[in-house]
Amino acid sequence: MTRKLFIKTYGCQMNAYDSARIADVMAPHGYSLVDDAMGADMIVLNTCHIREKAAEKVYSELGRLRGVKEARAAQGSHLLIAVAGCVAQAEGAEIIARAPLVDIVVGPQVYHRLPEMVAKIDRGAAQALDTEFPAIDKFDNLPETKSAPGPSAFLTVQEGCDKFCTFCVVPYTRGAEYSRPVAQIEVEARHLADLGVKELTLLGQNVNAYHGVGPDGEIWGLGRLIRRLAKIDGLLRLRYMTSHPRDMDDDLIATHADEAKLMPYLHLPVQSGSDQVLEAMNRGHTVDDYKRLADRIRRARSDIMLSSDFIVGFPGETDADFQATMSLVREIGYAQAFSFKYSPRPGTPAACARKQIADDTKAERLSALQDLLREQSDAFARRCVGEAIDVLFERPGRHAGQLVGRSPYLQAVHARAPDTLIGQVKRVRITEVKTNSLAGELSQPCAVVN
Ligand code: 5AD
Ligand code: SF4
Repeated sequence: MTRKLFIKTYGCQMNAYDSARIADVMAPHGYSLVDDAMGADMIVLNTCHIREKAAEKVYSELGRLRGVKEARAAQGSHLLIAVAGCVAQAEGAEIIARAPLVDIVVGPQVYHRLPEMVAKIDRGAAQALDTEFPAIDKFDNLPETKSAPGPSAFLTVQEGCDKFCTFCVVPYTRGAEYSRPVAQIEVEARHLADLGVKELTLLGQNVNAYHGVGPDGEIWGLGRLIRRLAKIDGLLRLRYMTSHPRDMDDDLIATHADEAKLMPYLHLPVQSGSDQVLEAMNRGHTVDDYKRLADRIRRARSDIMLSSDFIVGFPGETDADFQATMSLVREIGYAQAFSFKYSPRPGTPAACARKQIADDTKAERLSALQDLLREQSDAFARRCVGEAIDVLFERPGRHAGQLVGRSPYLQAVHARAPDTLIGQVKRVRITEVKTNSLAGELSQPCAVVN
């Protein structure tokens, strides 16, 4: 009997990867993935705990699901509800206390045990909870992906974080840094390439801290791993995220210079442009370190563009600190960036700091920063007009005869092109900037491209 599984993913790409793997884990047990919660037999909320808003969204969703579950019970069937991901890890049994409709709470390190937990509920248990950090490798217990994820896929190579930035829950929810062995990653990458994947984004909370065991028994860094994966036929593009400025070593920077498959786009969060704030955040680098690093990366690969994350309103942040962030943004020039109001997270050191910033100040700073970042990303998009840019076509566009793909800088690009070009990289001349995308034309007429 097949049962329908619906997974709702919150937060980062690591969760998107985990959701795909949860589907892989459940498939052999008769669960097929559907893209609508209505009519599903099992709903998994794969959650994010990074900011308060993200965590609260989960409880709102559970509130909405209560009626659905009750209606289903009135018809004599059971809707299984599981909470996975970082809220599950951070709050554990608290979730069931607050939302008793939840059947299963499963942490990010043990979702390979989900089938056993479902079986336990099927046998009549009221609830099942597992938020362990087991010593055995979850990745050894995950089945192979069976269905093609499309031309672009994620592959988690590293998990966890030992940096303990004072605002961040990740070291608590995802645990200590762990790097998967090179051989295990290579098998998964080759398998994805066989399924038609052309672009791989290597993921990790601290991906450039990667230090996995290589086939030679030595410890390999991320640069070496990337050069190895770049040898896989069929893979055309490689990316990685998210990186910490402290872990950009010479070899990784050199890989940007030497490896054509590595895209010239790097997410390198700085969080703040003030040394005092960076110090209070325990980031372990100064503004000057970051600027010099950006310089070295640009010298290695002149067409590289950077993106970043910023937090405004960190405890103690003065107007001058905030202006220093604005200056750094002006100096570096980002293609794109994410910015957030500081959100105190339970259990993290900064949450107890005395000088919390008022919400209206945070809101003002965020809006000024976002205006500046938007100006920069708009200017970058305008600079692309007239350029011929390589686009990996991923899927049909909204209009007939049109495809959508990604530029090396992850911009969405629309162009008139036949479906046969899905999964191929083609040169597109950019003609126009749209709201959240670029429009262009194939540089060569369709008849001669293939
Ligand atoms: N408040 C606001 N933003 C945060 N981030 C992490 N923790 C917090 C927090 N407590 C942001 C950082 C990080 C991104 C993933 O989320 O900018 O790089
Ligand atoms: Fe969080 Fe800092 Fe680790 Fe990034 S480096 S996951 S912000 S603790």
